[in-house]
Amino acid sequence: MKKFFITTPIYYINDIPHIGHTCTTVAADVVARLHRLKGEEVFFLTGTDEHGQKVAETAEKEGLEVKEYCDKISPRFQEAWKALNISFDFFIRTTDPRHEKIVGEILQKIYDNGDVYKAKYEGLYCIGCEKFLTETDLIDGHCGLHPPEKTVEKSEDNWFFKLSKYVPQIIKLIEDEKTNYIFPEGKKLEILSKLKGGIRDVSISRENVAWGIPTPWDEKQTVYVWFDALINYYSATQFVEGKKDFWPADLHLLGKEILWFHTVIWQAMLLSANIALPKKTYTHSFYMVDGQKMSKSLGNVISPQQLRENFGTDGTRYLITRSFPTDNDSDVGIDRFKEKYNADLANNLGNLVSRVSKLAEGQIVENTELQLEAEFEKLIDEVKFDQAIQFVFDKWVDSSNLKLNQETPWKLEKEDPKRKTVLDECINNIKLAAFHLQIVMPETAQNILNCFKNTVKPLETGLFPRIK
Ligand code: MSP
Repeated sequence: MKKFFITTPIYYINDIPHIGHTCTTVAADVVARLHRLKGEEVFFLTGTDEHGQKVAETAEKEGLEVKEYCDKISPRFQEAWKALNISFDFFIRTTDPRHEKIVGEILQKIYDNGDVYKAKYEGLYCIGCEKFLTETDLIDGHCGLHPPEKTVEKSEDNWFFKLSKYVPQIIKLIEDEKTNYIFPEGKKLEILSKLKGGIRDVSISRENVAWGIPTPWDEKQTVYVWFDALINYYSATQFVEGKKDFWPADLHLLGKEILWFHTVIWQAMLLSANIALPKKTYTHSFYMVDGQKMSKSLGNVISPQQLRENFGTDGTRYLITRSFPTDNDSDVGIDRFKEKYNADLANNLGNLVSRVSKLAEGQIVENTELQLEAEFEKLIDEVKFDQAIQFVFDKWVDSSNLKLNQETPWKLEKEDPKRKTVLDECINNIKLAAFHLQIVMPETAQNILNCFKNTVKPLETGLFPRIK
């Protein structure tokens, strides 16, 4: 059986889940469900990134031991994903001793390969990104993604990884169409130009951060949180039972701010440790909330729970997928979502299903096997969710509404064969729409398919109540 391994970034637990985390997680779920539908054996991995300075500082503020804090927050992510019907197969935590052991082993391999040396790090560090900053990261002297106080001066002895040694090999891999792993195309060009601009080696350990995995050859230092975190993708395949053959990953999904880590640093680490490289990374843009960056101080952070309370599980999944930010940032907000929900789900799809199931009540339905359309599959593979959903609406939903309005079957006698023909066509279309939309809205799709199984049964309650 064909195998498919998909991952999301593992999220920092200095905060509870928000719509940004939800965005990548729902996207990964949609892709995972498509591959299962195609009969593949899927391993879908997500989890939490628990070491490092940022998490340690948050725990301290909360007055908790760090591990205690992690044990409190990590389940919030699992619960949020379960409530959204995310079909992850394993939830990894970087504080899992099985992961920690593999991190030590890989670091040791990199060291044994002669790719590690000790040097002084002097420069700026962003605690928000957990990243050593370069000139290009700076806006007004601090990291552009986080408040100024998160940028701090560092001067410490660190272990460095010879990233520069692997740059020519990585450029070659990316430039070769057959081995290129960076999608979409724009991101590939961005990385190539950065790589060709000259690259410095990177620090892989921290001297003064106790909350981390000890560096195998130097107990006084801990592994830099990004080196620890990236290894999760590989470590899970090694310690979760029966998953060894899933490496290398088929698809890493991630947001644009962590592109460099996933397309350069991760590859160099794997090359050094002599481990196969992931086949594809897909980097998406960001959600902006009502035109602004989401931030606690602006008070505009949207949580998955808030989305579910407004739109239900499938409504949320639909809205997230439909507004998925690909090449450009996508503007979202509760009011905007309400409009979209009412237009697409309540007035269009929901209304169609309720009309047809009422009109055709008791009608016998042929249970033909439903097939995936190649075009739809291709659009999902290319992470063009908006277009994939549009394809379903154009082909089956809108066309049925049009047909109903043109043919007005409710005006025809029950016995009129034309009435049955029109309704049969709509039923067939609705079933195909539900079949394809099941990867986005699994429960709703099942409800719809049940409604049109054997004989038509009207819906007991509307699928998507209108929101005022
Ligand atoms: N812990 C690291 C990732 C390590 S992976 C080996 C990390 N965590 S994070 O909690 O900050 O999550 C970052 C990810 O959350 C982004 O890459 C993206 O997937 C998602 N998003 C966070 N904010 C987002 C938006 N505003 N919009 C869309 N997705 C965003 O970085």
